[in-house]
Amino acid sequence: MSTAVSTVISTDRSMLQGAPWLLAHKSMLTVNQPMKVAVYGHDYVLWKDANNRVQALPNICPHMGAMLSEGWCVEQLDGASAIACPFHALEFDHDGCTVLPGTQKETLSQLKPLELVIQGDFIWSYGGAEPQMAIPDVLTQIANEYEFVGSTGEISVATPLLPMLLNMHDYNHQNGTHREMFRIEEVRFERFVDTGHHSDAYLKMPKASPTRQEVLKNPSVLLLPKVIEAHLENFFPSIVLFRGESAAGPIVQCHLFIPESAEHTRTYVLLFAKPKSPVFKLMKRSLLKLVATVVEQDADILNKLYADPPQKIKLNNEAGMDWVRRNFESWPQVAEPNLSR
Ligand code: FES
Ligand SMILES: [Fe+2]
Repeated sequence: MSTAVSTVISTDRSMLQGAPWLLAHKSMLTVNQPMKVAVYGHDYVLWKDANNRVQALPNICPHMGAMLSEGWCVEQLDGASAIACPFHALEFDHDGCTVLPGTQKETLSQLKPLELVIQGDFIWSYGGAEPQMAIPDVLTQIANEYEFVGSTGEISVATPLLPMLLNMHDYNHQNGTHREMFRIEEVRFERFVDTGHHSDAYLKMPKASPTRQEVLKNPSVLLLPKVIEAHLENFFPSIVLFRGESAAGPIVQCHLFIPESAEHTRTYVLLFAKPKSPVFKLMKRSLLKLVATVVEQDADILNKLYADPPQKIKLNNEAGMDWVRRNFESWPQVAEPNLSR
């Protein structure tokens, strides 16, 4: 009995129950097309109706367990839509109510909707857990200030949340994981500012010029400056912002994380920019592709790590990872900031 209880607690902690997670940006949903998302080991079907309203229900049909995300949407006269099960076509409205064949009456709710917090185009959720922290307003600020370029690099990685976050706050892995991409010669770690659940890291990364072949493969490498100056802004635990300059104007890459289960973590990137030249429009697609490749490389290395290795060596510039570990351990409490340097 006591073992079962402690497992539940540690699984809760390993997924940081009570943090807000950005399930999707509205542009990632097509009107009346169901999308499957997972949080804390539960699957949900998410859909956007003709009124731009987004709903989420548990994905398991209460009749015989079909995946509702494999079904279709049925639009009503008012523009709202219900989700139809792919197995026997029962239709569930946003409250999870249905009308059984041969009856004229709506049932009580058969599926408890997942609570969503919609802020503009951002679809947040606490995954049904008791909220332990506020939703950061930084994405709304960015959306007001920048142009939305697109979403990219969506991938579900077979890794728990902690290794995923460690990788995203590891300032030494450019030369290994991303060796072929940027030809970074050195990572100059300038400053780390720890303010609890928020931190900033400033890096300078001089790089070799891309070869002709690399340019042909992805012309957007030409947008990268000779020295990449990065400002990484971290919002524990669900957002890492990479603020940088490109030849065509300032960009912000927003990396998002969602603990799908104790063993799977989903990630994707929302890209924003302030294009200062028409070149940006031409490069948009290849820039999104470049970011997707970066995420694939991160996912690839995460798939090739042994679980819980004893770390016997420590490199310089691991302040970001120390910050992640410390915040994980003190969750949901905010620890005294002690990692600025
Ligand atoms: S399994 Fe969904 S209607 Fe039968
Ligand atoms: Fe990376």
